[in-house]
Amino acid sequence: MCGIICYKGKKNATEIVTDGLKRLEYRGYDSWGIAFKNDKLDIIKKVGKIGDFYGASKLKESHVAIGHTRWATHGGATEANAHPHISCDKKIAVVHNGIIENFQELRKELEKRHKFVSETDTEVIPHLIEENMHLGFEEAVKAALKRLEGNYAIVAVHEKEEKIIAAKKGSPLVLGLGDGEYFIASDVPAFLKHTNKVIFLDDEELVTINKEIKIYSLKTNKEIKKETSEIKWTLEQAQKNGYPHYMLKEISEQKETLKRAINQDEKEIKKIAEEINKGFGTFFVACGTAYHAALTASYIFSKITKKHINVVLASEFPSYEHFLTEKTLVIPISQSGETADVLEAVKAAKEKKSKIISIVNVTGSTLMRQSDVFFQTNAGPEIAVASTKAFTSQLALLTLLAYACDGKFEEGKKVLEKTAGYTGEMLSKEFGEQIRKLAAKIKDKEHLFIIGRSVNYPIALETALKIKEVSYIHAEGFAGGELKHGTLALIEQGTPCIVFASDDDNKKEILSNAMEIKARGGYIIGISPENNEVFDYFIKVPDKGGLSPIINIIPAQLLAYYLSVERGHNPDTPKNLAKSVTVK
Ligand code: AGP
Repeated sequence: MCGIICYKGKKNATEIVTDGLKRLEYRGYDSWGIAFKNDKLDIIKKVGKIGDFYGASKLKESHVAIGHTRWATHGGATEANAHPHISCDKKIAVVHNGIIENFQELRKELEKRHKFVSETDTEVIPHLIEENMHLGFEEAVKAALKRLEGNYAIVAVHEKEEKIIAAKKGSPLVLGLGDGEYFIASDVPAFLKHTNKVIFLDDEELVTINKEIKIYSLKTNKEIKKETSEIKWTLEQAQKNGYPHYMLKEISEQKETLKRAINQDEKEIKKIAEEINKGFGTFFVACGTAYHAALTASYIFSKITKKHINVVLASEFPSYEHFLTEKTLVIPISQSGETADVLEAVKAAKEKKSKIISIVNVTGSTLMRQSDVFFQTNAGPEIAVASTKAFTSQLALLTLLAYACDGKFEEGKKVLEKTAGYTGEMLSKEFGEQIRKLAAKIKDKEHLFIIGRSVNYPIALETALKIKEVSYIHAEGFAGGELKHGTLALIEQGTPCIVFASDDDNKKEILSNAMEIKARGGYIIGISPENNEVFDYFIKVPDKGGLSPIINIIPAQLLAYYLSVERGHNPDTPKNLAKSVTVK
């Protein structure tokens, strides 16, 4: 949540930072701002997306700039609340991602001597630095940080100082190392165009950027040396490449991303499978879409390996911590590896000495670095707020793990390769057009219901989440048998209801459930390998021994996408949301 991008070097910083902000927009897009330095500090702040601002290219040239794109927490989306925030003398500017929990007490204390102009928690930071400037800029920043409780990734500049200073605790910050130029950002795609050499900052580290960079531990106050990593992502992966939206591009990539997801170190997978089999309790912990991948996988584990896996929403994990021991395996699943609730669950599990085996997409993310073992889903950058390719990659990897637990790693790989091949059939223009037509037909409906049984129950939940998230239509997913326990009361003439009817043991029951809905006037959209008289609209999907949850979610993702477009929204940046949820 919130994106930071800063630059110091020979090139034009205002151009690099405004371009970086556009690339970071998926982290928050309520408002944006930039501070850039020449002989004085200039600040520009605007409400809305930077993509909608056409004056960015006309900003004055500079060689030092800090920028921020905001997802509002404290205070609405206004110019005054947009970052950077500044000190009373207007010489210090700060951008911040995270939440300062003790900002109210600090503000009360500072208000006696400083003038506040926003409602944000962040504004205490430039004032705290200003209070301590007699110590020098660097020491003043350190002194300010000592007063903060909560999470932060901050970057500060001073009108009269050459240095940029950045620090982090709990929110991500990565340094990009170019040729005589430096970048600081919340996420790599912000500067990937310029360099793929990075240093990931850890909590309670501070960096000063001048002609060279110096990193210090805030705990010991000593300089530290850190490893430089090379990011394998290409700029092409982080661009739309001719697609109208990232969401459609990412849906379309799934045939390839599925193959990459199962390209794993066989030995390592088998080793972890053995540990799960030894069985002292395994927890899948995740949020949102990743939680749905975990829930689907728990059905697959139950069926294939006869193993019960506990699946817990990361935000609910504190109620389950009591069961953890050093023999428990905790498997967090996260695209970003920065989700605050997931990281909090990991922290709690580590305190109980449980083993952390994460499934994560973003290289160098906090989750990856905090895990005992990690598997990367290899989906490449996922930019659209709605998670699509990361979901199927998580599901593929977890399925492979389930097969490995049953001693059938090779068989699992074959099933998944076959499934990846089938997804290709659904990524054709004709298939997309069929879904677009359906979207055009139902776009003005207020409610939509989705049912599935067994492995397709979490797929119904995920479909509902996708549709709500990008089209703003109220959608709810149910286990097929559950609708008649209350929600059937909401079915009226023409209420659309999506039914996942795969060729499995549940087919008869789910079709009966569809009949029950149709008998009450529901408009039945069947997603199935075969047509059936109960369907009012039929979407044919392949199913010849493939994995039905991965196959079924593709038309559902496409439907969510086209519903969003047909209703005139931008599916990449849904209102009120941000890609990485870095606050609890
Ligand atoms: C899905 O479309 C979402 N935007 C959201 O639910 C997401 O999956 C969730 O916030 C978890 O994110 P993570 O995978 O990065 O941890």
